[in-house]
Amino acid sequence: MRTIIEPFRIKSVERLRKTTPEQREAFLQAAGYNLFKLHADDILIDLLTDSGTSAMSTDQWAAMMRGDESYAGSPSFYRFESAVKELTGFKHVIPTHQGRAAERILFSILCRPSDIVPNNTHFDTTRANIEANGATALDLPLPAASDTQARMPFKGNLDVEALERLIEREGAERIPLVMVTVTNNSGGGQPVSMANLKAVRAVTQKHGIPLYLDACRFAENSWFIKRDEPGFEKYTPRQIAQQMFALADGCTFSAKKDAFANIGGFLCSNNSRLAELETRLLILTEGYPTYGGLAGRDLEAIAVGLGEVLDPDYLEYRIASTAYLGRHIADHGVPIVEPPGGHAIYIDAGRMLPHIPRSQFPGQTLAIELYRHAGVRSVEIGSVMFGNHAQHELLRLAIPRRVYTQSHIDYLVEAILEVNERRNELRGIEIVTEPPMLRHFTAEFRPLSG
Ligand SMILES: Cc1ncc(COP(=O)(O)O)c(C=O)c1O
Repeated sequence: MRTIIEPFRIKSVERLRKTTPEQREAFLQAAGYNLFKLHADDILIDLLTDSGTSAMSTDQWAAMMRGDESYAGSPSFYRFESAVKELTGFKHVIPTHQGRAAERILFSILCRPSDIVPNNTHFDTTRANIEANGATALDLPLPAASDTQARMPFKGNLDVEALERLIEREGAERIPLVMVTVTNNSGGGQPVSMANLKAVRAVTQKHGIPLYLDACRFAENSWFIKRDEPGFEKYTPRQIAQQMFALADGCTFSAKKDAFANIGGFLCSNNSRLAELETRLLILTEGYPTYGGLAGRDLEAIAVGLGEVLDPDYLEYRIASTAYLGRHIADHGVPIVEPPGGHAIYIDAGRMLPHIPRSQFPGQTLAIELYRHAGVRSVEIGSVMFGNHAQHELLRLAIPRRVYTQSHIDYLVEAILEVNERRNELRGIEIVTEPPMLRHFTAEFRPLSG
């Protein structure tokens, strides 16, 4: 059979509430045209994030029921620990309440002011946690990655030559670790090849610099390697993931993505002295080392999810479903970041709405219109989020795992193509409240007429 189906059936459903365009305009006005301020039950299809929004399986819910809430030594922790160790091969596993807690602990131990931490592209929280320690978070994506239209496999790779030049120029002692984010979320959800990871490994090893994975979407990355990297078709996603982890000295992980959990994360390393320092910090802010800010039932959900996500049927469907959305809108004239990534489709709103200048926020304008037209929530990744540092004016459609079906995706295609037909009529917006920090969460806007 050629049709790729959702490899699950649905036992428990959540109602979606339909609203009219007039109701949605009123909700938008009340929210100051900031979609973060909408009430989630006023949304039909919510593509704000793929983080913490997965549907859990019957096995995960069953495992949660046996969650053991002992303060110390819970069997739920040991099941979690052995699932993580079996997958990653790392010696030390520290649970945290989510990915950014792992980042904060790692960087506050390793980073000093004037240090530099390179990455293919830092996610906002890794950047913020590095900068909070006075160090510099440096992105080293491939030069071709800045062209949203360039179609190449493994566009998320780290620029290894740029890394070598950096080490030569600044000295290895200023670089406490190198990170690689798989898949590259801020770079369009693009994957990283095994060859690239090996090349980064060779450079870091030569200079004695630890290599860490930001591994939130390790399984999706493994599937791209299996599908597109010569020589890997014969391996299972688990074997590929294990090879990726084996190249690193440690990882940070948000279990809200590729572990299908609604909360959770972990920090791993092979360095016993470092793990001891990390554990001390963990106790200060997260909790005792056998729960690290999580309930026993959360640890159980993660342990099961880490196994389920590597099912080839699931990964084939997941990546095909994202690509289906991307291809069906791009092939009808909507410019997206090419090629489609793993967890999200990014519309290049700057390119789609060239008559709306950056100062009038084309990405946010498009997000507002998509909600007004069809009840779909997405998120601007452009000048609202990054101010003058924005490289592109993008609209991200992040796809929650195992939540929406093919007909939801077809509805999205229809909605986006209808908005695209009227693109020349759209007018920009202006900011009316300008909070000093994290303005994408709290700023309010006003539509411009004319
Ligand atoms: C690549 C990447 N790293 C780190 C994080 C942070 O994880 P968390 O939201 O669990 O703190 C995210 C979350 O979206 C992410 O996408």
